[in-house]
Amino acid sequence: MSGDTLGFEGQSVIVTGAGNGLGRVYALELARRGAAIVVNDLGVSNDGSGAGGRVAEKVVAEIEALGGRAVPSFDSVATPEGGRAIVELAIKSFGQVDAVVANAGILRDKSYYKMELAEFEAVLDVHLRGAYFTTQPAFRAMKDRGQGGRIVFTASPVALFGTFGQPNYVAAKLGVVGLTTSVAIEGARAQIFANCIAPMAATRLTPGMATETSEEHPFAPRRVAPLVAYLCHRDCPSNGHVYMAGHNFHARAAMMLGSGWVARDEDELTAEAVAAHWAQIDDMDGAKALGTAAEIGAMLKASVPFLG
Ligand code: NAI
Repeated sequence: MSGDTLGFEGQSVIVTGAGNGLGRVYALELARRGAAIVVNDLGVSNDGSGAGGRVAEKVVAEIEALGGRAVPSFDSVATPEGGRAIVELAIKSFGQVDAVVANAGILRDKSYYKMELAEFEAVLDVHLRGAYFTTQPAFRAMKDRGQGGRIVFTASPVALFGTFGQPNYVAAKLGVVGLTTSVAIEGARAQIFANCIAPMAATRLTPGMATETSEEHPFAPRRVAPLVAYLCHRDCPSNGHVYMAGHNFHARAAMMLGSGWVARDEDELTAEAVAAHWAQIDDMDGAKALGTAAEIGAMLKASVPFLG
């Protein structure tokens, strides 16, 4: 496309869960920009059952029809062997891994009261453990090769504020934010940057929105692809951040720390004093985004004089 400056020629990118919804449009966008793609998808229904659909092959055919390069992968991200096999396929097919988009996902919605262990575990297995199983072998391959890399994890807006009926999903997705910030710190010196996306898109995972999405739907998945493509690109300087995107909206989201209340001395450190200062403790006016541990230390020192 004219005006494209962010190319991926000679690079290889893994996109998990790329047979449908968001992953498919990420794969197409990255391929259009020159990346060779591992299109991974187990081909399951949205609760994770019925493995065996060959949706990955269809997306590979779409990429090839556009003149791009891609290979299908049918492994599950939810097992260590599956994660390793996905990364090995990228290296065998294209020689290296330059970026990974850990996107595969399922839902098993249920109230916390009714949720069974199997429903809790199935969702953690795909989203949180699956992110680990796939990105750790890729992280190792990137580090061993010594030429950096990019990892894009997938959380959800609900990871940041919760929702009814998805305690398993919300817990898994906030866990993914924890993976992002930690991998980002460890990867920084090796130029392996990890960020996280909290997308909003009309797909089969969001039955409240239209499931048969047209390209013109306000929340069409394709509207999230530009941000993901940039996060995969070496020009993107961000590391350890979370970005919300959908319906043309793009913004960074962050954990915040309020300015709080500081007890004057040990005598004032009582539950009653906490209750008396609750409005101040609870207040988020003037809150700051949590950055590095060193920045948080500096913030605390500024507000707690005796720490200095
Ligand atoms: P989707 O259902 O269209 O695509 C997910 C794909 O993951 C499916 O093709 C499925 O076969 C595949 N998959 C599931 N388990 C797998 C496994 N174990 N191994 C390999 N592939 C597997 O869903 P959508 O909406 O495109 O979701 C993509 C990601 O974005 C998910 O992580 C989801 O939680 C996240 N997300 C989506 C939102 C939305 O508004 N659509 C909102 C917030 C987060």
